[in-house]
Amino acid sequence: MKILVTGGAGFIGSNFILYWMKRYSNDKIVNLDCLTYSGNLENLKEVANNKNYTFIKGKIEDPIIVDKATQGIDVVVHFAAESHVDRSIKKPAEFVLSNVVGTQVLLDAAVRHNIKKFHHVSTDEVFGSLELNNTNKFNERTNYSPRSPYAATKAASDHLVRSYFITYGLRITITNCSNNFGPYQFPEKMIPLAITNILEGKKVPVYGDGLYVRDWLYVKDHCRAIDLVLQKGKVGETYCVGGLTEDINNLAVVKKIIQILGKEESMIEFVKDRPGHDRKYAIDWSKIKNELDWEPLHSFDEWLEKTVEWYKTNESWWRRLKSKEYQEYYKEQYGDLD
Ligand code: NAD
Ligand code: DAU
Repeated sequence: MKILVTGGAGFIGSNFILYWMKRYSNDKIVNLDCLTYSGNLENLKEVANNKNYTFIKGKIEDPIIVDKATQGIDVVVHFAAESHVDRSIKKPAEFVLSNVVGTQVLLDAAVRHNIKKFHHVSTDEVFGSLELNNTNKFNERTNYSPRSPYAATKAASDHLVRSYFITYGLRITITNCSNNFGPYQFPEKMIPLAITNILEGKKVPVYGDGLYVRDWLYVKDHCRAIDLVLQKGKVGETYCVGGLTEDINNLAVVKKIIQILGKEESMIEFVKDRPGHDRKYAIDWSKIKNELDWEPLHSFDEWLEKTVEWYKTNESWWRRLKSKEYQEYYKEQYGDLD
């Protein structure tokens, strides 16, 4: 089988390629990625020379490159996107181009080349926000209600993907998953930002009152979920993927990290809130559990410890990313926090 992975140099895409090539070593992987600030080929150095792995540098909104990359492909797994909510608040246009136009260009090529399966990786953010005291969870029937430019572009891409199933018969599946964490996550997202700041002796910025709730999913559990959907998922269907069964707010997550690293809670700094900050996400993942027998392999605490350990032992990986461009972004986002 020959798989086109888009955005394979990013956090989840690179974990997926490493996962897939270990498990299905005869499959061929083509990685199409334009290497934005969050794309990093270093994540893939252990497969870079594998004869079954090819890298193409290019944008998914470029029809010529996409047409070339799609030739001879059996399955597309589509990760490529601008992914950070805070950046989408500052520069929404880039999100429309990559997440909406890029997805449409890719879908057109998939139809033209009779791709056997097109899997679209999406987010729980398309469902909007829950109140803290609301015990409901998002599921596959929840109405869309995106509230940030990032979430709006992901919602648009989901609608496009579904429309290509109905209109052109493209064999699609979609996963809407919650917040991933684990190795190779760019240190602008909360968990790697907290871990690496603490390791550098810097304060950890917590937005607003810190009582926001996310449903944390370890990245390898997410890769296993996509694998199962590709093998056994029903064409045309959506699967929600989450990691938790209880609410853990951001402050509690940061305190756990501080405790694992043996530091003081005085490292927490409450900072200005994100505009339009979604209060809570919670995923009901019973469909994928019941139909495909998926569930997280370990608890949040176990995966968090493993993650902290990974950043401790891979300091040179994240130190290089906290470069000049990162410092400029950090200053604009967090002011003089140190
Ligand atoms: P990431 O930002 O780490 O990686 C994105 C990758 O896509 C990068 O390698 C980047 O270079 C590439 N890319 C961006 N725009 C591109 C374009 N126009 N053409 C080609 N390549 C492009 O993101 P991630 O966290 O790995 O997320 C991957 C996917 O999963 C995204 O679609 C995101 O919406 C979705 N998702 C992420 C999370 C999460 O918690 N990280 C949760 C739910 C869904
Ligand atoms: O829910 C899935 C989504 O999770 C994905 O679709 C996105 O691609 C991914 O970036 C992530 O979005 P979030 O906005 O939830 O993730 P982030 O790590 O940016 O923030 C997690 C929570 O932590 C959120 O409530 C905001 C808060 N936060 C974040 C940062 C960066 C802070 O309190 N301080 C921070 O410095």
